[in-house]
Amino acid sequence: MLFIWFFIFFYMTTTSTSVDRLAVTQSIRDGETLASAGGIIEAGFFSPGNSIRRYLGIWYRNVSPFIVVWVANRNTPLENKSGVLKLNEKGVLELLNATNNTIWSSNIVSSNAVNNPIACLFDSGNFVVKNSEDGVLWQSFDYPGDTLMPGIKLGWNLETGLERSISSWKSDDDPAEGEYAIKIDLRGLPQMIEFKGSDIRMRTGSWNGLTTVGYPSPTPLLIRKFVVNEKEVYYEYEIIKRSMFIVSKLTPSGITQSFSWTNQTSTPQVVQNGEKDQCENYAFCGANSICIYDDNYLTCECLRGYVPKSPDEWNIRIWFDGCIRRNKSDCKISYTDGFLKYSHLKLPDTSSSWFSNTMNLDECQKSCLENCSCKAYANLDIRNGGSGCLLWFNTLLDLRKFSEWGQDLYVRVPVSELDHAAGHGNIKKKTVEITLGVITFGLVTCACIFIKKYPGTARKLCCQHCKIKQKKGDADLPTFDLSVLANATQNFSTKNKLGEGGFGQVYKGTLIDGQELAVKRLSKKSGQGVEEFKNEVALIAKLQHRNLVKLLGCCIEGEEKMLIYEYMPNQSLDYFVFDETKRKMLDWHKRFNIISGIARGLLYLHQDSRLRIIHRDLKPSNILLDANLDPKISDFGLARLFLGDQVEANTNRVAGTYGYIPPEYAARGHFSVKSDVYSYGVIILEIVSGKKNREFSDPEHYNNLLGHAWRLWSEERALELLDEVLGEQCEPAEVIRCIQVGLLCVQQRPEDRPDMSSVVLLLNGDKLLSKPKVPGFYTERDVSSEASSSSANHKLCSVNELSITVLNAR
Ligand SMILES: *[C@@H]1O[C@H](CO)[C@@H](O)[C@H](O)[C@H]1NC(C)=O
Ligand SMILES: *[C@@H]1O[C@H](CO)[C@@H](O)[C@H](O)[C@H]1NC(C)=O
Ligand SMILES: *[C@@H]1O[C@H](CO)[C@@H](O)[C@H](O)[C@H]1NC(C)=O
Ligand SMILES: *[C@@H]1O[C@H](CO)[C@@H](O)[C@H](O)[C@H]1NC(C)=O
Ligand SMILES: *[C@@H]1O[C@H](CO)[C@@H](O)[C@H](O)[C@H]1NC(C)=O
Ligand SMILES: *[C@@H]1O[C@H](CO)[C@@H](O)[C@H](O)[C@H]1NC(C)=O
Ligand SMILES: *[C@@H]1O[C@H](CO)[C@@H](O)[C@H](O)[C@H]1NC(C)=O
Ligand SMILES: *[C@@H]1O[C@H](CO)[C@@H](O)[C@H](O)[C@H]1NC(C)=O
Ligand SMILES: *[C@@H]1O[C@H](CO)[C@@H](O)[C@H](O)[C@H]1NC(C)=O
Repeated sequence: MLFIWFFIFFYMTTTSTSVDRLAVTQSIRDGETLASAGGIIEAGFFSPGNSIRRYLGIWYRNVSPFIVVWVANRNTPLENKSGVLKLNEKGVLELLNATNNTIWSSNIVSSNAVNNPIACLFDSGNFVVKNSEDGVLWQSFDYPGDTLMPGIKLGWNLETGLERSISSWKSDDDPAEGEYAIKIDLRGLPQMIEFKGSDIRMRTGSWNGLTTVGYPSPTPLLIRKFVVNEKEVYYEYEIIKRSMFIVSKLTPSGITQSFSWTNQTSTPQVVQNGEKDQCENYAFCGANSICIYDDNYLTCECLRGYVPKSPDEWNIRIWFDGCIRRNKSDCKISYTDGFLKYSHLKLPDTSSSWFSNTMNLDECQKSCLENCSCKAYANLDIRNGGSGCLLWFNTLLDLRKFSEWGQDLYVRVPVSELDHAAGHGNIKKKTVEITLGVITFGLVTCACIFIKKYPGTARKLCCQHCKIKQKKGDADLPTFDLSVLANATQNFSTKNKLGEGGFGQVYKGTLIDGQELAVKRLSKKSGQGVEEFKNEVALIAKLQHRNLVKLLGCCIEGEEKMLIYEYMPNQSLDYFVFDETKRKMLDWHKRFNIISGIARGLLYLHQDSRLRIIHRDLKPSNILLDANLDPKISDFGLARLFLGDQVEANTNRVAGTYGYIPPEYAARGHFSVKSDVYSYGVIILEIVSGKKNREFSDPEHYNNLLGHAWRLWSEERALELLDEVLGEQCEPAEVIRCIQVGLLCVQQRPEDRPDMSSVVLLLNGDKLLSKPKVPGFYTERDVSSEASSSSANHKLCSVNELSITVLNAR
C-alpha cells in the first residue's frame, strides 16, 4: 500500500518530464514542465492570479505561495492551454499557439556560430540557450521581468548596448509590462532609479563602495556589487548561505518587496516591503533643499545660502519649486566662495555629476572651486576613510537627511554665508527616523530586524501624512499658482463645486500632498487694481478668530482672482438647520453654541479686529461648520474687497440676500454694523425655529418668520417658536433669551438694535434684556413694497458685475 501511495504521489507531482533541458525537435506542451537539475526551479505554463490566460514562466519549485520569477510571453498571452514551446535548429526558442503561430521567441544576440543548440534550465533560475559545447546564445537573465534574483546583472552591457531592467506587472493577473521600472541611469555617476512611466519616482542612488547612497550598511546575508567600467555598468547581489533564497519583486503598484525563505521552510516571507515616507519621493523638496522626516514631522529646508523660490507656497508647505541662491553668485569675479559640510545626507542626484576614482578630497575641493557651475563635492567611495571625487553641477536635487547613516556633502556657498553659518552654529543635527523608507534591492536584514523591533514606527511611517504639523509662516499673504489650483480642483470641474456665493463660485481642491482647500473663484471684476486687491486680501488674511473661516491665500493671474480658504467638511449651517433629517443632529446645546459662536465672530469683525468689517451678506449658507459643528463665518471681508471700506455709508450697490437684509439697507442702501446685527437676528430666529424666514408662511397673518416670532412673543407663547424636533430637551430660559435677543436684533430702527458686544453679553445672561419693539420686514409684503418704493438706483440685484446673491443662491 505504502509503495503504491508513494508511487501515485510521485507520479502525480511529476506528471511530465523532469528533464532540465530541451533539445532541437523536443517541445514542452501545456501541462509539462522542465525542472532544473537540483530540483529548485521549474519552467512551464501557468495562469497568474485570476486570469485564465496562459503564460510560459519560471518559478521556484515546491515553494508556496507560488513565486513566478520570469515570464516569456508577458505581453502576448495564450488564450488557452494549447501552447507549445520548441527549440529550433537556429537556437531560437519559439512559443506556438493552437494555430502554430509564433507568439513569442527568444532573439539571438550572440554572434557565435550555432552548433547543436540546447536549452537548459539552471538552479539559479536562468534559462539558457547554448551550443552543446560552449557559448551562450541567449539567456533569460538578460531579459528580466519584475523580479531581481541573484545572478541577474541589473544594468548595461556597454559593448552590446543591452540594458537589463526590472519592470512591474500591469496587475497581479496580468504580467504585461506595467507602469513602474527600475533601471540604472548612466548619466553622470551611474545610479539606480525607479521610474513611473518616464518620470523618476524614487532614486535608490549611486554606489559609495558599500551600498547605494544614503542606505544602511550591507547586510551580512548578501554580497552586493555595483560594477562600473568601460564594458559594463550593473548592480548584482549574491546570497552567502546556499540554503537561503532572497528575491525582490517590483509590484504593480511600484513597491519593491523582498521575499526570503530557506530550503527547509519553503514559505516565502516578505522581509522588506518598501514602505516609503514622503522624502523618498524623488525631489520632493525641489532643488537645493533637504527633505527631513523627523519624528513624524516632514519638512524641507533650503541649503545654506539658498532661499525658497516661491516663499508663499513654501510657507504653506508646497515645496516643489525648491530653493534658489539668496545672492547672485559673483564667482566669476572673485573666487571667494567656500564650502559648508553637511553630514548624514543622501547625496544628490548624480545625473549631472562628474567623478574621478583617483582624486582625493582636497583635489576635489580645488577642482570644484575652479568651476563656477560646480555646486558641491563629496567622496566617491566612503571605504577606508574615503577616496575619489564626485562633483555636482547645476542644481542639487533629491537630498534627504538621515539620523545615522548617510554621507558628507560639501556645498558651495558664498563667503558671507560661511560667516553666517559660523555665527549660528553649524547645521542643526536633526535625527530622522526613517529606517524603513528604503527601497534597495536586497536590503533585507535591516528592514527585517526593524519590522520586528519597531512595528509601531513602521506603521507610523505609513500614515505620517495624517498628522503633519502645520508650520506657520509669518511672511506676507501666500499666493498660489493658478496651475496648482487648477490641478487641485481638476480644472474647476463642476464635480468639485461646493457652492456659489455672492462674489463667485466655490470649489473643493486637494493639493498633491493631500491638503484640502476651498477655492473661491471670484467673479472677474472687483473694480480694484491687482496690487490693491492683494493688499486688501493680505489684510483680511490677518484676521484670525476661531469663528472665522481661515483665509490661506490668494491667486491672481490675468483675469482670475481667487481666494483660498481652509476646507470645512461639514458644509454650511443651512445645510443642517433647514434639512428635514439633518436638523435632528443639532440639539439645543449645539444650536446655542452656534448662535454664540457667530456672535463672537461677528463681534471680532465689527470691533476687535484691526479692520472694521461689515459682512453685509450674513446668512446661514455663509456660516460654515467645522468637524465639531462649531460655526465659522465665511466670506467676511468680501464686501470690503469689492465695495470699499466705508464704515457707514450710502451706496447704490447693494449686496445681500432677501430675508436677511434690513429695511434701511434694502430701501435706501444705507448700511452699518447694525445691518449685520439685523441679519444675525434673523439667523438666531431661524436656528431656533428650524425655518427659513422667507419661506415661512402663516396664512392667517401673512407674517414671515420675524412677524410670526413677534406675534408669539407678544402673546407670551414664544416657546412655541422652537423647532419641534427639539422636543423637551432644551433650556426654556435659554431659548426665550435667544428669541428675545433675536427680536432685539431685527428691530425696525437700526439705533434700537444692540451692537454685537451687547449681544454677546445678552446671550450669556450678563446683561438685562430690554423689551423688543416691532421688527422690520415682518410681513412678506414689506420687502417688496419697501424695496420697490426705493429709487431705481438702489435696486436690489441691480449691479450685475457683482453678481449679487439673491434668494439664497448658495
Ligand atoms: C484552443 O483554441 C483553439 C482555437 O480556438 C482550438 O482549436 C483548440 O482546440 C483549443 N485548445 C484547447 C486545449 O482547448
Ligand atoms: C495564434 O496567433 C496568431 C498571431 O498572433 C493569431 O492570429 C491567432 O488567432 C492565434 N490563434 C489562436 C488559436 O489563438
Ligand atoms: C501545427 O504543427 C504540428 C506539428 O508540426 C502539426 O501536427 C499540426 O497539424 C499543426 N497545426 C496546425 C493547426 O497547423
Ligand atoms: C538545504 O541546503 C543545504 C545547503 O545546500 C543542504 O546542506 C541541506 O541538506 C538542504 N536541506 C534540505 C532539507 O534540502
Ligand atoms: C547677500 O544678501 C544679503 C541679503 O539680501 C545681504 O545682506 C548680503 O550683503 C549679501 N551678500 C553678498 C555677498 O552679496
Ligand atoms: C565646468 O564644468 C562643466 C561641467 O563639467 C563644464 O561643461 C565646463 O566647461 C566647466 N567650466 C570650466 C570653466 O571649467
Ligand atoms: C496634477 O498633478 C499631478 C501630479 O503632478 C499630475 O499627475 C496630474 O496629471 C495633474 N493634473 C492636471 C489636471 O494637471
Ligand atoms: C485642464 O485645462 C487645460 C487647459 O484648458 C487642459 O490642457 C487640460 O487638459 C485640462 N485638464 C483636465 C484634467 O481636464
Ligand atoms: C462633521 O465632519 C466630521 C469630519 O468630516 C465628521 O466626522 C462628522 O460626522 C460630521 N458631522 C456631521 C453631523 O455630519
